[in-house]
Amino acid sequence: MPPQSRKILVTSALPYVNGHPHMGHMVEYIQTDIWVRFQKLRGNSCIYVCASDAHGTPIMLKARELGISPEELTETNSKEFVSAFEDFDVDFDNYHTTHSPENEALTIEMYEALRATGDIYTKTIEQAYDEKEGMFLPDRFVKGTCPRCKTEDQYGDACENCGATYTPADLIDPVSVLSGTTPVKRESEHYFFRLSEYGPRLRDWIAEATLDKNVIAKLEEWFEAGLQDWDISRDAPYFGFRIPGTEDKYFYVWLDAPVGYPASFRHLCDRRDDLDFDEYWRPGHDTELYHFIGKDIMYFHTLFWPAVLQGAGFRTPTSVFAHGFLTVNGQKMSKSRGTFIKARTYLDNLDPSHLRYYYAAKLGPTIEDIDLNLEDFTARVNSDLVGKLVNIASRCAGFINKRFDGQLGQALPEPKLFAEYADAAQTIARHFEAREYSKAVRLIMSLADKANRYIDEHKPWAMIKDDSRLDEVQAVCTQGLNMFRSLMVYLAPVIPAVAGDAREFLGEEAWTWQSASDPLLGSTINKFKPLLTRVEPHQVDRMVEQSKETAGEPDTVADDNTISIDDFMKVDLRIARITDASPVEGADKLLELKLDVGDSSRTVFAGIKAAYEPDSLVGRHVIVVANLAPRKMRFGVSEGMVLAAGPGGEDIFLLSPDDGAEPGMRVK
Ligand code: MSP
Ligand code: ZN
Repeated sequence: MPPQSRKILVTSALPYVNGHPHMGHMVEYIQTDIWVRFQKLRGNSCIYVCASDAHGTPIMLKARELGISPEELTETNSKEFVSAFEDFDVDFDNYHTTHSPENEALTIEMYEALRATGDIYTKTIEQAYDEKEGMFLPDRFVKGTCPRCKTEDQYGDACENCGATYTPADLIDPVSVLSGTTPVKRESEHYFFRLSEYGPRLRDWIAEATLDKNVIAKLEEWFEAGLQDWDISRDAPYFGFRIPGTEDKYFYVWLDAPVGYPASFRHLCDRRDDLDFDEYWRPGHDTELYHFIGKDIMYFHTLFWPAVLQGAGFRTPTSVFAHGFLTVNGQKMSKSRGTFIKARTYLDNLDPSHLRYYYAAKLGPTIEDIDLNLEDFTARVNSDLVGKLVNIASRCAGFINKRFDGQLGQALPEPKLFAEYADAAQTIARHFEAREYSKAVRLIMSLADKANRYIDEHKPWAMIKDDSRLDEVQAVCTQGLNMFRSLMVYLAPVIPAVAGDAREFLGEEAWTWQSASDPLLGSTINKFKPLLTRVEPHQVDRMVEQSKETAGEPDTVADDNTISIDDFMKVDLRIARITDASPVEGADKLLELKLDVGDSSRTVFAGIKAAYEPDSLVGRHVIVVANLAPRKMRFGVSEGMVLAAGPGGEDIFLLSPDDGAEPGMRVK
């Protein structure tokens, strides 16, 4: 037991809920969850909060495209994140949303406090404006040719080819991503936060915070470049909180996003009498506050956020822990290679404990990227978890279960050997505390090797044949199971589900970190059930296959996936008449179809070339999914999907309702 239990508040970055949770996200939530579980196991008070990041232009536009409200969109998408977190055993004490009354109140409180100190001012700036859409364009919504290296089709903030950074106004031939029109320059009054004044105070924070070397190095770079004031407002239309005293100005999403941390905590305090908001968020208390984040959002968390907190009279974080990015098979995740793997696709095929273990085995405290190599993943999980760890228990449990009525021996035959497992507690704890998970895992696995060698040497399976040596068998298996048990206690933060099953098998109610050092003797254990299965390569292959984006071909739907009637009603099926059909150069399966859908015409790419002569299609009626989000393909934008039946190739049959159906009719 640590002498005095600490009071810790931990956060993970708030996921932006305009898309789906994927394997990259899970690096962060698993890393944080391991640390939190470790603190709890040590007897510290540790609260873990998070929330959905719900505001901003991308969510507003996505909702508009789907014809739903941004609230509806973020609620639906949040559910997907929440269920992925649950299934990966990421256990928040509270999960909220930034689109909440708690967040609005706190954001305004901080803003007013900053205004009172003179740290907010207004300035008129010029920005790209889309006249057709009637809105100002964020940098990422303008594309054009890089002014430096002349590469086409670059975003308005930076060139992916040469790395130059600039403003949309610098682009050659800029176009709005939304309407395709040329943006104009328009003036607007914006609200700025005087970050430039915060240099000395931020330096004080950096000196007292326990930041990692690599984070400090980044900060030095930014200080060197000079701190710029920060534009915290956006013009309507915007999904966010309106700035008090204005009609059409909103807080920029990145202002209220980190406020989501204290807001989620406040939402929890409102339901728990034992928690005091001020103790964790006002200066002068001995609580600890840690933010886990990815390296891409360091600027926001190590400059803007501490400065806002300081200026508004809040406490600053004890530390900010940044991790690197996930690569898969050594490369950036890719939809075409099938390595852009959604959390759900993983869960449909593999055990979450496998991934938690693998990430832990790879994670350290730096911002170095981590690689999920799928072959290594399979080999490592099978050899470490199944081959080494669980194997210790399965080699000993059967004898205790069958020959000794489940009863463990009264004493350890080799207390010195067990002491090595007990003494490792300190080193392993130090590694977890310092987020050196890979070092903790390595040490635990070397102890697992040692336990297996012990069993190899004593051969209980041979002794059991000799009635005079039964006591020895019980003793050896008791020793073996106790070594297994200590390692499972150490791994409980990493693979809580497996550790929970192991604890139940050993007949225990609860574990603390100390349990690993106190042997379990004389008690009765339960029947042993396999704790983990092996990863089979075909499961991994299937996951990759399911992650491949099949452009232009009808999506296949797994037959065990049912949808609700509500889901079905969202699908807008319409009759369309094919007015034109032509082959697509460079695509051997695709036809480009022009469709008359009653009130409008559409272009849709369909993978039916092998089955139909283009000319034979003109005039035919087909059924289309009319509200499918437009998809940008190599050959152009596809604005819907044509329904067909059949296995593919030459056997594709368009669904053609011809008697009386007219373009635009709804299909029900
Ligand atoms: N909404 C912001 C965070 C606001 S915090 C006040 C955001 N959201 S995010 O959904 O894009 O990312 C959430 C977290 O997941 C971030 O810390 C991000 O770094 C991390 N990751 C997202 N993709 C990742 C990988 N491919 N690899 C590792 N971590 C990644 O940023
Ligand atoms: Zn360039």
